[in-house]
Amino acid sequence: MTDKNLQKKQAAEAALQYIKPNMIVGLGTGSTVSYFLEALAKADINIVGVTTSQVTSQHCAELNIPIVDIDEVDHIDVTIDGADEVDTYLNGIKGGGAALLMEKIVAKNSNENIWIVDESKVHATLGSFPLPIEVIPYGNGQLFRQFTDRGFFPKLRRQANGDPLVTDAGHYIIDCHLNNINNPYALAEYLEGQVGVVEHGLFLNICDRVIIGGETVTIKERQKTNTEQV
Ligand code: A5P
Repeated sequence: MTDKNLQKKQAAEAALQYIKPNMIVGLGTGSTVSYFLEALAKADINIVGVTTSQVTSQHCAELNIPIVDIDEVDHIDVTIDGADEVDTYLNGIKGGGAALLMEKIVAKNSNENIWIVDESKVHATLGSFPLPIEVIPYGNGQLFRQFTDRGFFPKLRRQANGDPLVTDAGHYIIDCHLNNINNPYALAEYLEGQVGVVEHGLFLNICDRVIIGGETVTIKERQKTNTEQV
């Protein structure tokens, strides 16, 4: 196992301490979450999962982890998810696995969000990981042109055969190579105002706790603003 995978596994296993019997648990997507699912199945804690992608649903079926549709529950106690990048404020970029839309819906409906990552994901500012933007296929070329004009260095995500990748919800993804996102809030506001953009991979003020694998596992909590505490 590579160092990175070992750290993912350490973070995933450390997340088990936040799972209690009878919880409704949001289940993210990605290789780190796969380690978490394996640990969860092994621990045999009686929970029900709400998944964020077909891939995660499939993995749950293989591991006999019971899942329900998001609209069958009235709350989600905690969601465990990975991230592509996380900054010092616990804001992050997600969507490298093309599951950002469902991940954000599950996260926004969760009482607590915990991210599990390896050390390579932690950066002072966001942007080194290309920002995924999920768009409606119709007119995606117009958005692409607009992003090019703004210097976002967009790239339409494609499958191995060259066709555009289609998300679980039937959309395309444009990855923007921004390098350094100085003001993620302003960027999020701009993207949310563009017709044709379904969702973007900036997850701001969402993660409550990040677990970072490493020689010693580090757990950081987000400091909530006054407005959030009210
Ligand atoms: C899925 O769309 C992403 O948001 C994942 O959570 C992210 O890509 C983390 O993936 P790994 O755990 O495989 O690094």
